Amino acid sequence: MARRNLKDARIIVTGASSGIGRALAIQLCQRGSHVLATARRIERLHALQDLCKSMPGKITILEGDLTNIPHRQQIVDQATSQWNALDVLINNAGAGAIGRFDGASSDRLRRVMEIDFFAPVELTRLCLPLLERGRKPAILNIGSVLSHRAVPNKSEYCAAKFAMRGWAESLRVELAAPRIEVLMLSPSTTRSEFLDALVDTKAEEKSTSVGSMLPERVAQLAISALVRSKREMILSLGGKSLVWAGRLFPRLTDRILGRFA
Ligand SMILES: NC(=O)c1ccc[n+]([C@@H]2O[C@H](COP(=O)([O-])OP(=O)(O)OC[C@H]3O[C@@H](n4cnc5c(N)ncnc54)[C@H](OP(=O)(O)O)[C@@H]3O)[C@@H](O)[C@H]2O)c1
Repeated sequence: MARRNLKDARIIVTGASSGIGRALAIQLCQRGSHVLATARRIERLHALQDLCKSMPGKITILEGDLTNIPHRQQIVDQATSQWNALDVLINNAGAGAIGRFDGASSDRLRRVMEIDFFAPVELTRLCLPLLERGRKPAILNIGSVLSHRAVPNKSEYCAAKFAMRGWAESLRVELAAPRIEVLMLSPSTTRSEFLDALVDTKAEEKSTSVGSMLPERVAQLAISALVRSKREMILSLGGKSLVWAGRLFPRLTDRILGRFA
């Protein structure tokens, strides 16, 4: 399969104000892509724009909350007026939550599902006509190792990331005819601001995840997945081990995870 050329590719990156999204926007600008970067923290987006100014690519920024319908429409309107087509949509924005399900509110579940599932799915729906006019178009979803194997104390986040994976798998086949590729990258623990931005999580709740990757490395691997059209990529040895242990020894994996809970 021909490699995807990211030079001059028109790309939306959600959640570009920190972590993986920010690293992706920078690396794409270094490769000469045209990036529309979105997030809520506008001062962070301005800093990103300044940083990318001298790079070969171009960057436009757009502030807003992705869980708001008008903001999602605004992203699509901006891409339409700038490019009238879209080559890549990167659904990266997301947030987690930590704590037992029986101690949490239904509001936490809804908020996590809104940002990690409904927002990327509905943004994708709006972007489909633009993608159909794109060059070798693709949707890259940033899932998680927890899209493949759930762990305790993160039930809402696991549910949202599993849902994203199920939706993406179905969409991949549906969109084979307009030839829009659906790719999924599943990082494991990444040293970003993710744990500082948890939804409705008590201060004493701690992540028990072990090891961590740098967002820059995750972004490199995401770009490699895009260039090589890798459908599914689970990152890190620890992440792969958890997924395979869960498939081969589900009860033992439950017992081990139960000790951490
Ligand atoms: N960090 C990890 O351990 C890890 C592991 C596996 C998968 N992931 C996934 O990787 C993706 C990126 O996370 P990260 O690690 O880079 O975390 P991060 O540093 O916290 O970045 C999250 C990004 O999402 C944006 N965002 C959050 N809520 C938003 C909303 N309502 N509207 C618009 N933008 C919103 C944030 O921007 P604003 O706050 O400025 O809006 C930020 O730019 C997420 O999908 C996450 O689930 C992370």
